[in-house]
This record gives sequence, structure tokens and C-alpha cells, in this order.
Amino acid sequence: MNQATALAHPNIALVKYWGKRTGKTNIPATPSLSITLDNLVTRTSVRESERDQIEIDGKVVSDEKIEDFLVQLRAAYSLPPLSIESSNNFPTSAGLASSASGFAGLLTAIDTAFNLEMSVSERSIWARKGSGSAARSIFGGFASLDGESGDWCARGVLPARAWPLKVVIAVTSEKTKDVGSTQGMKRSKQTSPYYSAWTESTKSDHAAGLSAISQQDFSRLASIAESSCLKMHALMLSSQPPLFYWNGATVETIATVRELQSAGVSVFFTVDAGPQVKAVCQEDAADIVAERLANVPGVLKTLVCGLGPGAYVDQPR
Ligand code: PMV
Repeated sequence: MNQATALAHPNIALVKYWGKRTGKTNIPATPSLSITLDNLVTRTSVRESERDQIEIDGKVVSDEKIEDFLVQLRAAYSLPPLSIESSNNFPTSAGLASSASGFAGLLTAIDTAFNLEMSVSERSIWARKGSGSAARSIFGGFASLDGESGDWCARGVLPARAWPLKVVIAVTSEKTKDVGSTQGMKRSKQTSPYYSAWTESTKSDHAAGLSAISQQDFSRLASIAESSCLKMHALMLSSQPPLFYWNGATVETIATVRELQSAGVSVFFTVDAGPQVKAVCQEDAADIVAERLANVPGVLKTLVCGLGPGAYVDQPR
């Protein structure tokens, strides 16, 4: 029987992606840059079955994004009906990039189980078709998702061991988000007066971010990443109706990160389509950052991660 299990880690964008090109193949409007985390993990098993069945965190679900993805994959490869079981060791669809690790792991498991023999770039392209950010979780460490190789796929730009940053995640809510990223991006593109300024400035942020990473310049990366995050949320807030992903504890946590910065701690914040704050810091600052963020009113818990590997198979062929 064809079956395989893959493990994949979420990634956090330092230069954000928010907006797609027109068309069906999920091409981002702008390039993005990310870090893949280690301790958060999605484990996905696929096997041939009598009919398609999707189980996420122990519950059978109907998931439109996964179903559409399978339709696209079957147009290119002959695949039987599949049983898919996916579980996360962190909250799903709550702004912790579960769709990135989910699609990166799903594609990696399908590629192995059915001997599709994709190259790493092909896996990244296919993962992107499921969820834009998933293209980046195929790679570990620092990754760039851009159109430089012709088709839009991610590439590794610096391995995790070369610059072992830490990420302290302040979880401020475990609720699933009200507006998913696909719908949110469409809304921003159609309604925000700032959309074209966003796409233009993201291109230069991406180039500047790549250079800061190659020079391991923490303070430059911090200012580029915070600016990209705040511009994305300004775009979200200026959409109609507004996309408001933060809560009070999100703001309190950002204020605490800013206090730490004023005290000379090497840390910066970033926030995705959800209320969690990710504080990226130099290795030696992780303890103080974790301790301070755990004490912010409204923070439910903190998760401390290092940088992790790209998606991989858990079972030999
Ligand atoms: O890949 P998606 O559709 O889940 O969108 C990701 C959007 C952000 O996480 C907010 C930004 C990013 O680049 O990861």
C-alpha cells in the first residue's frame, strides 16, 4: 500500500506576503522572506483509501483549500483517493502558520507515498499552490519566496545553524481566525487605498531583508521586519470591512518588546493574520524575552523556538 508520513514546521515571515496576482495558481503579488521554526510541528500521514477523507487534529473535516489542492494535483499526477491525517502540536488556524506547515507536509508525504519524484523546487511550487507561505516551509532556516527562478517558489537563503536566532511566541488567544488569509488578501487588494504602495514597498523590503540576512545584521533586519509587519497590518486595517487581527494583549506584548529594545535587548516583533506576537531575538536574549512576555497581562502562554529544518519524510520509501 502506498503511504508516507512527513513532518513540517511553520515559518514566520519577516518580510510579509499579503496579496496575490490575478489567476488561479496562487502566485504572490510580492516576494517574501521567512524563518522556519523548530519546536512547532505538523505531522501528516497519507495513504491510499476508498475515498478522500481528511482528518485534522483527530476530527474528520471538509476543507475546501485541501480539496482544491487535490483537484490541481490530480490534474497533473494520477493519484488514488486519499486518507489524510494531519495533527499539529500547536493551535490550528490561529495565526501560527498551520497552513504553511500543513501544505508543506501534505505535499511531501504525497510525493513520497506515490513516488512522484519531485525536486525540492517542484515541491515548493506545489506547496505554494496549496498555501503561499507553505512554499517556504519546504526549506529550513531563512527562506525567500520569489519569482527569480521563473516560476514562483522558495529557496533557502541561509541555513539555521549559520545564524541561530530564537523566536518567543506570545499566544494571546487560541480561537481560530474569523477571516482566512485568501479571503483577507482579496479584500485588501480590492478595497485598500494603500494596496499599490504596499506591493511597491515590499519589493524593496525584500531586497533589503536579503542583504541584512546575508550580513547577519540584526538591527537592520529588526527594522525591516517590524516595518513590513506594521505596513501589512495598516493595509489590513485600511481594507473594507477592516481586517482587525489584534487584541489588547497583542498591543501590550508589542509595547513590552519595545521596552526591551530600549533597554538594549536584541529583539523585534512580528505579527501575522492573528493576535499572536512573535518576538525574534538573538540567542542570548531568549530567556529575558520569554520571561518578560510570559508576564504580559493577557498572554496565555509563551512558546520558545529555534530555527528548524525544511519539511522531511518520517518513513523510508
Ligand atoms: O500562506 P497564507 O495564505 O496562509 O498567507 C500567509 C500570510 C501571512 O502569514 C500573514 C504572511 C506571510 O508571508 O506568511
